[in-house]
Amino acid sequence: MSTALIILAAGQGNRMNSDLPKVMHELAGAPLFAHALHSGAALLPERVVLITGHGAETVEKAALALDPEIIVVRQDEQLGTGHATLQAHPALQGFSGDALVLYGDTPFISDETLSKIKQARHTGSDLVVLGFEAADPGRYGRLILQGDTLEKIVEYKDASAKEREVTLCNSGVMCLNSDLLFDLLQAVGNDNASGEYYLTDIIAVARSRALKASVVTCKQAETLGVNTRQELAAAEVQFQAHARAEALENGVALAAPETVIFAYDTTLGRDAVIEPYVVFGPGVTVENGARIRAFSHLEGCHVSRGAIVGPYARLRPGAELAESARVGNFVEIKNTQISAGAKVNHLSYIGDAFIGEATNIGAGTITCNYDGFSKHHTHIGAHSFIGSNTMLVAPVSIGDGAMSATSTTITGDVPNAALAIGRTKMQIKPGLAQKLFEKFKAAKKPD
Ligand code: UD1
Ligand code: MG
Repeated sequence: MSTALIILAAGQGNRMNSDLPKVMHELAGAPLFAHALHSGAALLPERVVLITGHGAETVEKAALALDPEIIVVRQDEQLGTGHATLQAHPALQGFSGDALVLYGDTPFISDETLSKIKQARHTGSDLVVLGFEAADPGRYGRLILQGDTLEKIVEYKDASAKEREVTLCNSGVMCLNSDLLFDLLQAVGNDNASGEYYLTDIIAVARSRALKASVVTCKQAETLGVNTRQELAAAEVQFQAHARAEALENGVALAAPETVIFAYDTTLGRDAVIEPYVVFGPGVTVENGARIRAFSHLEGCHVSRGAIVGPYARLRPGAELAESARVGNFVEIKNTQISAGAKVNHLSYIGDAFIGEATNIGAGTITCNYDGFSKHHTHIGAHSFIGSNTMLVAPVSIGDGAMSATSTTITGDVPNAALAIGRTKMQIKPGLAQKLFEKFKAAKKPD
């Protein structure tokens, strides 16, 4: 049975106290709504519809950058979750299958839970709602059961004292045939404490038509929704704890796991060693046995087996380290391929470059890749030696087995096996230091 995702992301989120729309706030390096998308992707949806409203332009741009196939639909006025879901109707014309509704501010629904929901759909339930036993049910909607059958969902504001005692709560995730969803939504009104069209009211409508509704449950941690900065911070803590535990289970060495920050898509190989205080931005892969030393920051890069990075290194997007490459302290690498066994060990900036096999880049070397308008490429061949404090004014190409003398400014191509030297000749002035010291001492005014 094919699936369409409907992700509700139009809400204001004014409790975040921010100019950003709520679903654009980042969790583990990705906007909140991207986590809901990521969860739903496990069901290989045929269509994905994202309902936007507050900050629609920003959300839509980010969504289409993640996946150009997403259908974005505006909900101009936020009249409730039922009204929001109804906006997906035109986008699902011609689709036949299940609609799965997810909330853009609920990032942790797991693949296992989604497949449990699908399973329940295939074993006789017309509607399936994801619920959870809440330690503190607070203001969540309550699931009212009769035996195994879900009779209705009551919002906290509308619930009786007895209904408020129920601890089985609504997560917001729901799954049912797409045509049926829109049919039931037509029958939902807004005669309730909030004056909103509630998605949750479709259960009672379905029951009045003798349809079967059931509940699948998951851990409360999966249903955590973000409405405040406190909740966002709590979500980050939850994400990081999970990512660290998973890394350890996968055979990654973390001496101080609580100091390492992961992104939603960090991939670490077995026996990779991650020292304390390492931060992973999005798009990082570290292969088996590579070592990331303390206080390094990595983003959009790939570190191969046996490579060593840091301490205090920064790998920016497009940094590609081949096997056994070395990037040492206070080195920044951007959009650069460092071939096998090459070393950039101290105090360098290498951007928009290719460094050949086993080449050594001396301390303080810099690729001058930017002229204020355009970026230019630097090519350095294999087995070359770039002396300390070399300035490489790009575009420039250095051959294999070449050498640059310390403090040379390279402004033209250097052939294979050649030495480039470009610095003023050193002079010795015997006794001049001593004379100058005396002169300065005599000229010094008393304090
Ligand atoms: C909703 C559920 C409640 C459940 C809780 C779980 C309803 C009526 N209530 O309540 O049963 O326990 O979630 O967290 O569904 N949204 C729109 N357009 C709107 C209104 C909301 O897109 O007009 C989006 C929001 O951006 C958000 C999601 O829908 O992503 C949920 O809306 P929210 O207002 O947070 O619902 P709750 O009151 O939390
Ligand atoms: Mg909410």
